[in-house]
Amino acid sequence: MSRKGLPEGFLWGGATAANQCEGGYKEGGRGLANVDVVPAGKDRFPVALGELRMLECDDAHYYPGHEAIDMYHHYKEDIALFAEMGFKCYRLSIAWSRIFPNGDEKGPNEEGLKFYENIFDECLKYGIEPLVTICHFDAPMHLIKTIGAWKNRKMIDYYVAYCDAIFRRYKDKVKYWLTFNEINMLLHLPFMGAGVLFEEGDNKEQVKYQAAHHELVASALVTKLGHEINPDFKIGCMLAAGNTYANTCAPEDVWESMQKDRENYFFIDVQSRGEYPNYAKKMFEKNGLTIKMQDEDEAILKNNTVDFISFSYYASRLTSADPEVNSKTEGNVFATLKNPYLKASEWGWQIDPLGLRITMNSLYDRYQKPLFIVENGLGAVDIPDENGNINDVYRIEYLKAHIEAMIDAVNEDGVELLGYTPWGCIDLVSASTGEMKKRYGFIYVDKDNEGNGTLKRSKKASFDWYKKVIETNGECL
Ligand code: BG6
Repeated sequence: MSRKGLPEGFLWGGATAANQCEGGYKEGGRGLANVDVVPAGKDRFPVALGELRMLECDDAHYYPGHEAIDMYHHYKEDIALFAEMGFKCYRLSIAWSRIFPNGDEKGPNEEGLKFYENIFDECLKYGIEPLVTICHFDAPMHLIKTIGAWKNRKMIDYYVAYCDAIFRRYKDKVKYWLTFNEINMLLHLPFMGAGVLFEEGDNKEQVKYQAAHHELVASALVTKLGHEINPDFKIGCMLAAGNTYANTCAPEDVWESMQKDRENYFFIDVQSRGEYPNYAKKMFEKNGLTIKMQDEDEAILKNNTVDFISFSYYASRLTSADPEVNSKTEGNVFATLKNPYLKASEWGWQIDPLGLRITMNSLYDRYQKPLFIVENGLGAVDIPDENGNINDVYRIEYLKAHIEAMIDAVNEDGVELLGYTPWGCIDLVSASTGEMKKRYGFIYVDKDNEGNGTLKRSKKASFDWYKKVIETNGECL
């Protein structure tokens, strides 16, 4: 079947996050953040979960984000390569602790503001629209130590002050904003995702949902603020998406898969519909959770819903109601059973292009707001041949199938979609594993898991392929 492409104006591009590509973690007055103390190796997961407390760096660990791919010094070269691919849009995140190194200063750090201003100017020079994630997992360490980050309601004020500074400074350069990357990650990796740590005797669910409430109120407040500062701003939420399938057609399995999906939808239900869904209220009741709210919170959430729904999609998930069967789930961030109908990546992420169309339709049916796919891609080992070339046909195959499914969702199902920014358009540090060898990019960066390499950038085969995709608006895959 030959497919038509997507309409003019569709925002093709790529995505990165500060803590995984910038490096320069002590430069330009930047303060320490949770993301800086998450090491590579066996302690990564316990630290990310908040089970192993690490609030400073030590010599016994390697922290891959400290230098990452050093985009801090290479951004001009990198953006030039994005422009060469024809990017219409570049999704990046601002490191909170570059703007407010401790989080509680009276005013922002000019050097940090200037750094991102230069990046935006560089993008705009090539006609690339920046899409900014305000918080991609990071929280200033000082706020973690002094107030417990998102556990504490005071965090809202600091986040609003941070947004106020960047909204005002970039109001004529940035139109698209995301308040929190993968906001549901708070439930899965509380320390890495939100700077949340637990104390002895804490009811973890209680702590996490209270922190979630603070993030949700903060998100609504800055949506209001952003719209006041520039009514043209488009402010979105961001979900780690991927529908959960039922292991069998037994109604119990279907019910279980619905519960799993709701765990994730919960955040977006609040951000998009403006109120806590009844199923969540019942769940709190059943589990004895009490979320402390202030009188004004309800109205804040109700009156300041997001303009669009963005999400990451890598894989679908699979679950069973039978604890015996479910105990065989794979140990990734999102636990899932092995789906016998799907192949998986080298890291066990199950490859399901039709799942993207299913996820898009589910989200669009539920919220009826424009969608934005802000992450998608294949993490794979790339091995340069004897001439240094990387023929990443596996990545092209993955992306091609997902773009086809995405185009079908738009052209066949009528889903409104603003853009597509595949993850790690340039190789960067993996969030879950801290590895460099889990690569997503169209651009290869010479650096290994141990931190060795020249940082030289080179084009993979997927570079020219994606260029063509953008040129033809998805018609030529
Ligand atoms: C998302 C995150 O979870 O998936 C990114 O927003 C992350 O930060 C991406 O890098 C891919 O995951 P990983 O673990 O392969 O880097």
